[in-house]
Amino acid sequence: MRDIQNIVILTGAGISAESGIATFRGPGGLWEGHRVEDVCTPQALAHDPALVHRFYDLRRAALDTVIPNAAHDALARLDREWPGELLIVTQNVDDLHERAGATRMLHMHGELNSALCADCGVQAEWRGSLPPGSVCAACGATTLRPDIVFFGEMPYRMDAIERALSRADLFVSIGTSGAVYPAAGFVQTARYHGAQTLELNLEPSAGSVYFHEARMGAAGVLVPEWVGEVLSA
Ligand code: OAD
Repeated sequence: MRDIQNIVILTGAGISAESGIATFRGPGGLWEGHRVEDVCTPQALAHDPALVHRFYDLRRAALDTVIPNAAHDALARLDREWPGELLIVTQNVDDLHERAGATRMLHMHGELNSALCADCGVQAEWRGSLPPGSVCAACGATTLRPDIVFFGEMPYRMDAIERALSRADLFVSIGTSGAVYPAAGFVQTARYHGAQTLELNLEPSAGSVYFHEARMGAAGVLVPEWVGEVLSA
């Protein structure tokens, strides 16, 4: 650990599971009762906007019923106390990292509390329901949609992520199945640039073999333990 200065952390749905937010690839392969392609593709939005908007309205409303868990708290502590560079890249669209106090972070797959104008591209904070036809304050078009990166769309901030990965001494992946690219490939990018790599997950992910070390267990236990190790090294 003494040689570690720059850390990049990737988080997925598993880190929010103990807060009560369902993961994507749980039993039955359904996300809150829906196939992912029925609620998370541009085709689904075009075909049935009412269904897609309602789905994310419910997910947004559910944020009021959950709180950050010990894993989010531990990463927020790392953010406060780590003297080197740190970037927490989350695939999650919930706001639990920032509610725990993390600041050196970004959402690569969008945010529930944000609306995207499909016409002018402006992103704006959004609370409450977002019915189809909602008006964009920037351009006046009635094309606001959930600010979620659907399958087939480009994840956000890839330039900043690639830059951080190229400088990372340590890459840690937490609570993600490794099923969705480009995030699933970050471990190989980080290794290519010489980083040590660690996976913390309930079970081996699809890319588990690419990590130097893998620890299996609940994020609420493993992440505070690991952060304690890092900060005391
Ligand atoms: P997944 O649901 O695919 O994977 C969650 C992972 O977390 C699994 O490997 C679980 O074993 C693990 N897990 C579950 N509970 C855990 C716990 N308490 N502690 C630690 N690990 C636990 O979710 P993601 O990998 O995040 O994309 O999915 C990636 C992307 O696929 C999502 O961002 C989303 C989805 O389609 C978009 O919305 C664009």
